[in-house]
This record gives sequence, structure tokens and C-alpha cells, in this order.
Amino acid sequence: MLNIQQNISLKTFNTFGIDVKAAQLTICSNKEDLVDYLSDIKKLPKPLLILGGGSNILFTKNFEGTIIYPRIKGMEVIKEDEASIWLKVGAGEEWDDLVDYCVRNDWYGLENLSYIPGNVGASPVQNIGAYGVEAQDCIEIVNGVMLENAGSFTFTKDQCQFGYRQSIFKKELKAKTVITSVIFKLSKQPAFTLNYGHIKEAIEATGDITLKNIRNTIIDIRKSKLPEPEEMGNAGSFFKNPVIDQEVFKHLLEDHPNAPHYPVDADHVKVPAGWLIETAGWKGKTLGPAGVHHQQALVLVNHGEASGLDILKLANRIIVDIRAQFDITLEPEVNVI
Ligand code: FAD
Ligand code: EPU
Repeated sequence: MLNIQQNISLKTFNTFGIDVKAAQLTICSNKEDLVDYLSDIKKLPKPLLILGGGSNILFTKNFEGTIIYPRIKGMEVIKEDEASIWLKVGAGEEWDDLVDYCVRNDWYGLENLSYIPGNVGASPVQNIGAYGVEAQDCIEIVNGVMLENAGSFTFTKDQCQFGYRQSIFKKELKAKTVITSVIFKLSKQPAFTLNYGHIKEAIEATGDITLKNIRNTIIDIRKSKLPEPEEMGNAGSFFKNPVIDQEVFKHLLEDHPNAPHYPVDADHVKVPAGWLIETAGWKGKTLGPAGVHHQQALVLVNHGEASGLDILKLANRIIVDIRAQFDITLEPEVNVI
């Protein structure tokens, strides 16, 4: 089914709560209708934008084109053996419903990614990650449709070119595809990833290491740090954690011998952008109605009626200041439209 609306406010379609309008918004609940719709692509107002839960997007002005919202549902076990199950999930399922479903069924792999907002269709786009796990650890196949010719594609994990907050869908196929479903491979045997920070200790404090306890602990940690978009508009981390070379890192250590960092390879380390932003004095600061969250400096927030440009102005001030103070250039994680 297709639900086509014109000149519609996007305020409830993005977690920053930015009040802009779209010339056209089309909600598509199955792949066949989507393919039909795209075969008439010449008639649609341009540009085209695919939207999921709007939890990683910043609208800076009215959108003059067509927004396509694939609300394709369904979770289906398509294959199973002694060790694993393969689950095909529609792009329009909520990510956290998928994680909850896996935890309830004793399927291991996605539990560390509990409580990440957004839809399954967006999960391969930036290869969502948290607490030492990334979506790519469980993704086998990504299915979708090319915008330009409505042709179907099936990509293996390798073809997706996953990296830290990166994939082919953010590079050469940026804004060129609609992901319609994702196939995840999950383990039926216990296998945990507990080496991020102090999460192991935090889980043990609640009892045994079980899927349920991991999920609940991670939800508690997230709730204690990250603002709920319903209460304070935001899109999670606004910037990626920068990967810098050893030379720049050595320089950073001269002034900040205890700077937190994670090894990447022989030549590079990753530095938490939240630490850089806090150290530069931005935590809790505001610029008009836009602000830096008081508990997590990597999260920019809408304190009320901020426009996308208000948020972007703050982001740009932070970029300039971090470059001046640390010689490190922050890159947005959020998709600025
Ligand atoms: P949208 O914001 O709607 O879209 C994001 C991008 O994907 C856009 O470029 C869009 O065009 C594209 N896209 C969306 N759906 C499709 C599709 N079906 N086909 C093709 N392209 C598509 N992210 C993390 O990685 N880790 C976290 O821990 C995390 N925590 C967060 C916490 C909070 C409070 C918030 C608000 C966000 C957080 N995020 C996190 C960011 C966000 O949840 C993820 O990026 C999520 O995958 C976005 O999903 P979405 O459906 O909202 O995508
Ligand atoms: N830190 C500070 N001050 C802050 C925030 C963080 O000093 O205000 C430092 C702390 O030293 C902490 C370190 O940064 O030890 C890391 O902090 P945290 O564990 O909160 O994670 P993060 O690096 O800020 C990343 C992801 C999150 C993800 C968490 C947990 C990115 C850009 N962000 O944040 O993802 O949930 O790790 O794995 O990689 C998102 O992508 O939207 C997102 C929320």
C-alpha cells in the first residue's frame, strides 16, 4: 500500500523535532508497491530522500522533493542449523523490536545494540554500533531497490563495505538505494561481547551473564547518559569519534597525558569526541535554542524550538574550536539535509 501526502510537516518524523515541511511524503508498506512507484520516478518531485525513524538526520530547510518511508514489516526465520538461525527482517521494523525479539528467543548477537532508535532498514547504512558490537557482526545480506531504475539488489556483507559508522550506502551508493530487508545471522549458542568499558562488571552486578541481563543493563546505561528524544530532541552522537594518526595523538598527549583513546591500527588511534568537546569546555553549553547535552557532550540537543540551522551553527562552532584547540577535525555522524 502507498500513502502519499503533500506539503506535510516533518516535525514528528525526526528525533531532533525540527519543524520543516516536505513537498511529498510517501509511506510504502510493501516492496511491490515501492517498485511500481519508483518505475514512475520521472514524475516525482526531486530530490528523493529515504527516511526511517529520522533518528540520524538533521533537516536544515524545507525539503522540496519526495521523501520515501519504507514501512515494510516482517520478521521471518528463513534458515536454521544446529548453531545458527537466519532471520529476514523488513526495513520498516523498529530496530529495538528486533533486538527484543532475538533476546526473547535466545538468539545471540544483537543484545549489545539494545535501545538504539530507528528502523532496521537504516541499520546497515551507518553500520550502527554500541558497546563493542556493530550491525555488521550479524548482517549476512542486505536487500533493496535501486532508485534510478527500480531494479532489485542483494548485497553480501562484503559488498556492503562496512566500517566504523560507514558502508557503501554512505559512499558510492549514497542516496541511491532503498533498503527493503536485511538478513541477520544469529547464534543459537551463547556468545557474548563484553570487553567495552566496564559493561561486564555492570552486568554481573545485576546477576548472571544472560541475554536478558545484558539487554537490561545496556538499556539502563543508555538511559542514564542519553537524552530521550521525546523529552529533548537529539540524534544521538552528532559527530563520529575521530580516528587520528600517531603524530597528532603524540601532540595531544603532551598537553593531556590522560586523554582516553582506543587503538585502531599501528598508525592510528580513535579519540572520543565527547571527551574532546567536554575538555574544550562545551559540555552543557547553549547557543540560542541549541545545546550540548550536560551528560554526554557528543550529543547536541534541541532545547525547544531550534531550527536545523541553529543546531548546525552550534555544530560548526564546535568543529572550529576543536580544530583550534587540538588540531583534530570532527566529522558529523548525523546526515545533514
Ligand atoms: P534515519 O535517521 O531515518 O536515516 C538515516 C540515514 O539512513 C539517512 O541517510 C537515510 O536516507 C538512510 N536510510 C534510512 N532508511 C533507509 C532505507 N530503508 N534504505 C536506504 N537508506 C535509508 N547510532 C548508533 O550507531 N549507535 C548508537 O548507540 C546510537 N544511539 C542513538 C541514541 C539516540 C538517543 C539517538 C536519537 C540516535 C542514536 N543513534 C545511534 C543514531 C540512530 O539511531 C541510527 O543511526 C539509526 O540507525 C537511524 O535509523 P533511522 O531509521 O532513524 O534512520
Ligand atoms: N566522554 C567524555 N565526556 C563526555 C562523553 C564521553 O569525557 O561528555 C569520554 C569518556 O571518557 C568515555 C568515552 O568518552 O569513556 C566514551 O564515552 P561513551 O562510552 O559514552 O561512548 P561515546 O564514544 O561517546 C560511542 C558511540 C555511541 C555508542 C557508545 C557506546 C560514536 C560516535 N558514538 O559514544 O553511539 O552508543 O559509543 O558504544 O561512535 C551514536 O552513534 O549516535 C551513538 C550514541
